[in-house]
Amino acid sequence: MLTETSKPHSGKSLDRLYIKTYGCQMNEYDSSRMADLMKEAYGLRLTATPEEADVILMNTCSVREKAEDKVYSELGRYRKIKNRNPDLIIGVGGCVAQQEGERIQKRAPYVDIVFGPQTYHNLPEMVNRIRRERVHLTAIEMPEIEKFDHLPTPGVQGVSGFVTIMEGCDKFCTFCVVPYTRGSELSRPVHDVLDECRTLLQKGAAEINLLGQNVNGYRGDGADGEEWDFTMLLYAVAKLEGLKRLRFITSHPIEMTSELAVAFGELPQLMPFLHLPVQSGSDRILKAMHRGHTRDDYFRMIDELREHCPDLALSSDFIVGYPGETDEDFADTIDLVRRVGYDSSYCFKYSPRPGTPASKIEDDIPEGVKDARLQTLLDLIREQSRAATGQQVGKTLDILVEKEGKKPGDMQGRTPDFKIVHFRGQKRQIGQIMPVKIIEAYGQSLRGELCIV
Ligand code: SAH
Ligand code: SF4
Ligand code: F3S
Repeated sequence: MLTETSKPHSGKSLDRLYIKTYGCQMNEYDSSRMADLMKEAYGLRLTATPEEADVILMNTCSVREKAEDKVYSELGRYRKIKNRNPDLIIGVGGCVAQQEGERIQKRAPYVDIVFGPQTYHNLPEMVNRIRRERVHLTAIEMPEIEKFDHLPTPGVQGVSGFVTIMEGCDKFCTFCVVPYTRGSELSRPVHDVLDECRTLLQKGAAEINLLGQNVNGYRGDGADGEEWDFTMLLYAVAKLEGLKRLRFITSHPIEMTSELAVAFGELPQLMPFLHLPVQSGSDRILKAMHRGHTRDDYFRMIDELREHCPDLALSSDFIVGYPGETDEDFADTIDLVRRVGYDSSYCFKYSPRPGTPASKIEDDIPEGVKDARLQTLLDLIREQSRAATGQQVGKTLDILVEKEGKKPGDMQGRTPDFKIVHFRGQKRQIGQIMPVKIIEAYGQSLRGELCIV
């Protein structure tokens, strides 16, 4: 869409970029790639406050309730800034943008660009047009061409690097907007993934996190002309020089394979942590949600994983109050959580999302019941988290040092199974793996003492 607006842009150079990111790690990744792009095209530098920005980008998430309201209320804040600085360029990207499209500019005409997750590689060009012609742009097509071919090499430095290996979702769980906002599953070719990993490692990353809506649904073209699956890719990434740790998120139970379970036992770089969302422990609800597996299938997967990797820490996502969920269904979820034993989990109350099949069924579970179920589940998960962190006390663990802690003299790092540890250390230890003896456990995190080696 293209609409004329009245005021021309003054043509002043662009200097500062503010990005507000909501949602999953893929949105975090996309935001950092947008920053890379805008830096390359305009020399824009990131700023911490929207008030001093020349360009504001919102990278939105629409996975749960009130997503749209949050976007509009934040936009209200930017409108005031634009009243003071008419040159300000405001862009709304991400999953709400994909879903709402032109509706955003109808409600908020001061928004210059609406762009979806598959078109942000065109941002510099769109910004250029806005400056020349002061038009409104909407770019929410889902082009076949790969945006990844148009992105500059990643510029972000740090101990932990993120690489999107596949995007989109073909699973169509009845409650979920992601297949509509991210499009169908698309995997990057193997050499692209390996090149990006190598770049991050050369820039000092010690850990690589592979990202995808269903990472283990990866099916990418290999240089040999063969299709590679996720486990093949893992083995190749694990071999890269300089890689100390390898992680990935998010996996889908129906894409779990025995080879992947074996990889957890075989690859020393692959850390013993797996986020494997199950959503519900009730077969009836799993079926209604279109998840494609039963609770027993899930138990079998967990058994196989633990057989190869006994220390594996698990986490999951849960939805309570899906339409028609009875007390028995919820009891099955509680039973599943007790049987599996999670280190952590995200728990959500079901909320109908626009355009999803479930939104056409009555959202019939009263709010009070949803609240009570959520609380029961959260209490149990919290209890399990405490037990999991408590078990680490007294052990000496390999900690990848990530950054300075909040307290002066403190450093912060992660255990192999992804728990945060604080300890007295030195800045020069960042990026190294250090032995730390765990002396105290808090709810979610640990305190330790560096072992002198
Ligand atoms: N691809 C991931 C999940 C992405 S969305 C997977 O399949 O596991 C992240 C989580 O948000 C989901 O796992 C689900 O628990 C939650 N979620 C998604 N849609 C929701 C809805 N309509 N209401 C409540 N929670 C929802
Ligand atoms: Fe959503 Fe299901 Fe796809 Fe996950 S697998 S992104 S929950 S549709
Ligand atoms: Fe949200 Fe889109 Fe990620 S809906 S969770 S930002 S894929």
